[in-house]
Amino acid sequence: MTVLFADLTGSTELTDELDAEEVHALLGSFFDLADASVADHGGIVDKHIGDCVMAMFGAPVAHGNDPERCVRAALDIGRRVPILAAELGRSIGVHIGIASGEVMASGTGSARHLEYTVTGESVNLASRLTDKAATGEILISDSVHRALAERIDCSEVGELAIKGLAKPVKAWRLRAFRESARSGRQGFVGRHRELRQLEAALAQCRDTRRGRTIYIRGEAGIGKTRLLEQFQLKAERENFACHSGLVLDFGMGSGQDAIRSLVRSLLGLTGESSQEEIDAAAQKALEDGLLADERRVYLNDLLNVPQSTELRTLYDAMDNAARNRGKRATVAELVTRASGRRPRLLVIEDLHWADQMTLDHAANLAEKITGCPALLVMTSRIERDAFHELRRATIAGQAIVMIELGSLRPREANRLAAAYLDTLGEIAQRCVERAAGNPLFLEQLLRHAQEHAEGGIPGSIGV
Ligand SMILES: Nc1ncnc2c1ncn2[C@@H]1O[C@H](COP(=O)(O)OP(=O)(O)OP(=O)(O)O)[C@@H](O)[C@H]1O
Ligand SMILES: [Mg+2]
Repeated sequence: MTVLFADLTGSTELTDELDAEEVHALLGSFFDLADASVADHGGIVDKHIGDCVMAMFGAPVAHGNDPERCVRAALDIGRRVPILAAELGRSIGVHIGIASGEVMASGTGSARHLEYTVTGESVNLASRLTDKAATGEILISDSVHRALAERIDCSEVGELAIKGLAKPVKAWRLRAFRESARSGRQGFVGRHRELRQLEAALAQCRDTRRGRTIYIRGEAGIGKTRLLEQFQLKAERENFACHSGLVLDFGMGSGQDAIRSLVRSLLGLTGESSQEEIDAAAQKALEDGLLADERRVYLNDLLNVPQSTELRTLYDAMDNAARNRGKRATVAELVTRASGRRPRLLVIEDLHWADQMTLDHAANLAEKITGCPALLVMTSRIERDAFHELRRATIAGQAIVMIELGSLRPREANRLAAAYLDTLGEIAQRCVERAAGNPLFLEQLLRHAQEHAEGGIPGSIGV
């Protein structure tokens, strides 16, 4: 699990200038900001302690990329606090510490007030790193650095003596996430049959100008996302525009994040776009004929753009079912018209966490894209399988292609472990056997074995 502490600085100094209520409001704004960043990246806030937020990534649900999510949340907080400071005209800042490792996670408290807390060395370390970080700095532990080494820009801080730890520990100062570092990871292995199947669907979609839906199912960490990344490279070379949405297990609460991010992406927006850019893109979509004018009210809802007075009246008069119908039709129209201009690859990831509304959108899209050049690819873990639900919801006879993603072959797993052979020798081989073809599990075992080069392989790792 990866633990983050983000501590606000400057608020104590302000207690002279401000009254208690103002300080409280200031803290509230900081907590709103930090909590939202954590939630948006799939973490959960463990608690607020004084001026500090403690958050964790990887429990109760592991995503497979929790260090990345955590680091992204930290950078997001680091970016937004100075903006908040400017808005409020107050000299506040934030310093952040991140560490990862095995922790004890347990439910405490009574039946009426259940608290989920974690304890362990990494919690202590993250907290101490926060203390050591200057305002505006993010310090990460060596384990976090190792997990993301090729994908982040950072500088070494050197060894720090940490209270409660016997030996000094290495820490790193984080600067940025390298967005285009796909190549920094282990090379892609295997999945030939699945890629051929996906590529055949792509070619067919291009040639017949009719889409279809592909559903990729497999256990956590088996390589669904990685397979899709590989496929996207191919699709881009074939002049498909790619758009993806990720269903977060917890997050902005609306449960429709995946569809909303698909819509934003179809309009050329990113998660970083400002409110003005979003407004302008919505306007342009109507002017360019990507959407009929009467869709505006639903588009505003999908983009979280405030309604005009006139549309507000219309919107308020509708019941929820009507709004949802309107939004589904709007998304479908957007996809149909956009794909008419350039073929599209639409990806909805992690459907096992989707709420009913997202599933309804997915089913509706699956039906509509049979008439336009757009390929819809969805992924899901096995535990809650939306496949049958989707199939029932789409029109009869409408096939959804299912790809069951199984274990990597031993030869392929060996190739993934090859980079570790020099340092780990025969232990790398034992990791391969133990991981039984799950690449995420294999990566974690190898990394762990390297950390404890003396040789112990842990009995289990939460995947
Ligand atoms: N074919 C592959 N070649 C090389 N590395 C792979 C391959 N498949 C997966 N990996 C690596 O294994 C890890 C887990 O893969 P990925 O995130 O794609 O799993 P997932 O099935 O999407 O898991 P989740 O259900 O948690 O989303 C990643 O670090 C990924 O780079
Ligand atoms: Mg995935």
